[in-house]
Amino acid sequence: MDAVREQYEAFPYPARDPAEEARRLIEGSPSHPLEIDHYLFAGRRDWTQPFRALVAGAGTGDGLVMLAQKLADIGCPAEITYLDMSVAARQVAEARMAARGLAARFVTGDLCEAPALGRFDYIDCCGVLHHLPEPDAGFAALAAALAEGGGLGLMVYAPHGRTGVYPLQAAFGALFSGDAPETRLRLGRAAVAALPEGNWLARNPHLGDHRSSDAGFYDLLLHGRDRPYTVTELDAALARAGLARVSFTEPALYDPARYLPESPEIAERLARLSEPERAQIAEHLAGHIKTHTLYAAPAAGAGERLARPASAAAVPHLRGAAPRALAAQVAKSGGFRLTLNGTGFAVTIPAAAAPLIAAADGRASLGEIAARLGLDWLAFSARWGAVHRGLTGFNLLHYSRGARG
Ligand SMILES: C[S@@+](CC[C@H](N)C(=O)[O-])C[C@H]1O[C@@H](n2cnc3c(N)ncnc32)[C@H](O)[C@@H]1O
Repeated sequence: MDAVREQYEAFPYPARDPAEEARRLIEGSPSHPLEIDHYLFAGRRDWTQPFRALVAGAGTGDGLVMLAQKLADIGCPAEITYLDMSVAARQVAEARMAARGLAARFVTGDLCEAPALGRFDYIDCCGVLHHLPEPDAGFAALAAALAEGGGLGLMVYAPHGRTGVYPLQAAFGALFSGDAPETRLRLGRAAVAALPEGNWLARNPHLGDHRSSDAGFYDLLLHGRDRPYTVTELDAALARAGLARVSFTEPALYDPARYLPESPEIAERLARLSEPERAQIAEHLAGHIKTHTLYAAPAAGAGERLARPASAAAVPHLRGAAPRALAAQVAKSGGFRLTLNGTGFAVTIPAAAAPLIAAADGRASLGEIAARLGLDWLAFSARWGAVHRGLTGFNLLHYSRGARG
């Protein structure tokens, strides 16, 4: 059996207990309907219409379960297809869906056969493409499986935040070749426990999967096939499949100015660069990016996909913060700080925008918020612009007329 298939049959990923579904819903990015609408449908999707989604390499079902549950919550007539080559992973995903009374079409097979399953308005593919023998064939297959107007939510590994992983994968691959998965795990764990203190994995604070579960350890350090993508490599892989990046989910992480001193000389040099060049420099400077999470679409028209605050009909949703609490913080401090990848970031939003944030309850449109606050559209837009820039940079604000948080 192929080494990667053998791994995911022995250690379905991520390790999940279907009984936990009664207690919590795991949410993440990509594939929350608010995000899908914001990044791929300009915040204007009509969720009363049928929605065909494919979760490709869905594993034990985190993305599948979240998407299916959120779509059920808003009454969207969705048809969701699960695709993975691991039977063991499928069994966990099926049990999780059953525990919630949710339905999907379950397919055991190769991601490269996705086009044979139909055409999809949305495809989730998280943590999979970098494990394929020919990743380009996977990108092309997903592109071919998109319906007109459809798009993708992707996650692929990034090299710098995974510093220390690849030397150990190489060492363990050579040392344990021919061993059964359980033996690799036992010996690999013993080897990691004895690593010298100067080893990069031992020193890398961004990595914790090997401590979380056997499946996590195996996935990180004993993987048989795993290649990370720099921003430039990712953009090139997308382009070869006729796709283009719409946006990273946290575009502020890809702004090199965040990692450089404030200096007119540096600003002048950054201004000469294209967005992909700046994003690549940011990745190199940051050092802490271990995955790229992004939305992508066919290159033609990809620039029209992202929601913008230009329309009074746009409905803003805050994610990860209650509107009134965030508004109080902005009123007091003119912004806030958050920590991502062990790194602190400052978000500046003028205190005058606080009442606008407080009114963003996920139901009112921008036009209604402006009217409620007695602001004409121009005055409103000037203040909302700072809210939009600050929050969308960190995936904390989405526009959708029909999805919910
Ligand atoms: C790291 S797991 C990610 C699971 C899930 N997408 C998530 O983010 O939680 C990778 C999954 O991709 C599946 N996979 C890898 N290569 C595949 C292929 N060529 N075709 C279908 N599934 C594949 C594995 O079986 C495994 O379940």
